[in-house]
Amino acid sequence: MTQKHSIVVAGGGSTFTPGIIGMLLDNLDRFPLRKIKLYDNDEKRQEVIGKALEILLKERHPEIDFVYTTDPKEGFTDVDFVLAQLRVGKYEMRDRDEKVPLKHGCIGQETCGPGGLAYGMRSIGGVLEILDYMEEYSPEAWMLNYSNPAAIVAEATRRLRPDSKIINICDMPIDLMYKMADMVGLKEWQELDFSYYGLNHFGWFTEITDKKGNDLMPQIKEHVSVNGFADGIGTSQHLDPSWVETFTKAKDVYALDPETIPNTYLKYYFYPDFVMEHTDPEHTRVDEVREGREKDVFGFCQNIIDKGTAEGVEIELDAHATYIVDLAIALAENTKERFLLIVENNGAIPNFDPTAMVEIPCLVGKNGIERINQGYIPQFQKGLMEQQVSVEKLVVEAWVEGSYQKMWQALTLSATVPSAKVAKELLDDLIEANKGYWPELN
Ligand code: NAD
Ligand code: G6P
Ligand code: MN
Repeated sequence: MTQKHSIVVAGGGSTFTPGIIGMLLDNLDRFPLRKIKLYDNDEKRQEVIGKALEILLKERHPEIDFVYTTDPKEGFTDVDFVLAQLRVGKYEMRDRDEKVPLKHGCIGQETCGPGGLAYGMRSIGGVLEILDYMEEYSPEAWMLNYSNPAAIVAEATRRLRPDSKIINICDMPIDLMYKMADMVGLKEWQELDFSYYGLNHFGWFTEITDKKGNDLMPQIKEHVSVNGFADGIGTSQHLDPSWVETFTKAKDVYALDPETIPNTYLKYYFYPDFVMEHTDPEHTRVDEVREGREKDVFGFCQNIIDKGTAEGVEIELDAHATYIVDLAIALAENTKERFLLIVENNGAIPNFDPTAMVEIPCLVGKNGIERINQGYIPQFQKGLMEQQVSVEKLVVEAWVEGSYQKMWQALTLSATVPSAKVAKELLDDLIEANKGYWPELN
């Protein structure tokens, strides 16, 4: 019998928590749990989700200990895995990340461009705090982090907590693999093998085969060149209109380099003009999320609380999030399975900064990760990545040093910002908007 695990979800009040817990409960046969904890620093927000899950777990899995707490000691003691999904500042600050840049004629997105850099300056401290709690109360545990902006958070932990047991991972490529599987008539993304390189939200698939090694790229390219990742293709998440637009636009992103299949997020760097034309500055993605996912998830939980039972209720599983279970199993049981992770390059892309946090396939086992070499990358991608990784490193330097100058440089260097003048005006506005969340910059 496999050993039973104890996990804590950090950011327990997240809109993703019920789906993640649902997915964990659906996988108990291969990842047995003895304890599930939620930890958040917003008691009221987490309480709604905590109370509902408490009712549900008591009815369906009384053998699993369940607590939700805002006390770090209670949250992080006796855990094997920390699943981290913080959003420092919540949707109120996501609103600013998306809307402040628009006022300056730049794209407004939660992880790309100025909004992503602003979010990064807030996230670093939050994620370090969680990591430190884990190391204090459960030093043997692993943290699986998908708090955004993952690229900047990963660079910060590389620099400031180099020996920590943290693995940074993103789910976008998984959704894309799910879609590519659909394009070739397969059901599950796990039926594909892949090669990929880039930075987080900034990368390219170079190979897709089935498990027998048959090349699926020609068929996938044919679909993507006409329809992007859209048009009758299934999805494991992301059904709202703005996402459909992003998946469709991938066909134009693909056109830049027909040798590879791009990550959807590259649209913000290649087609900011298109993105701007298709953005309503009064109603951005955060509004769509608040009116949709946030309302649904909290309504669902409140309903369980009001009825006092979860009888007949079905949690909408975050089925695509099984990669989190797979990753935890790989660490616990040394499976050496392949995952796309955000790790220090260290030669895996030989013609790229060895200290850059890149997104590449790795094998995962008990002692951590082994990189899979991706070889030399072409000039186009190398140029783009050098610029973007410098932006991300400069943000972390700005945070560490409290440097206004470096944050100005980071914004100026971002391909989404047209000039140093705009960068400075933006920076001054972002400082104002993020009061109390950013370190003081001098
Ligand atoms: P959300 O605002 O609903 O949830 C975030 C929660 O984090 C809130 O309850 C908030 O109170 C809590 N929080 C903030 N700062 C904290 C701190 N210092 N300590 C403890 N808790 C804290 O946001 P969401 O939309 O559900 O997203 C959650 C996170 O997951 C975001 O970072 C999002 O970008 C990320 N995410 C990442 C991926 C990926 O692939 N990498 C996929 C989905 C979501
Ligand atoms: C993708 C990305 C995540 C991001 C999410 C945003 O899954 O990989 O990093 O957090 O999209 O989704 P949302 O529905 O909140 O806009
Ligand atoms: Mn992501």
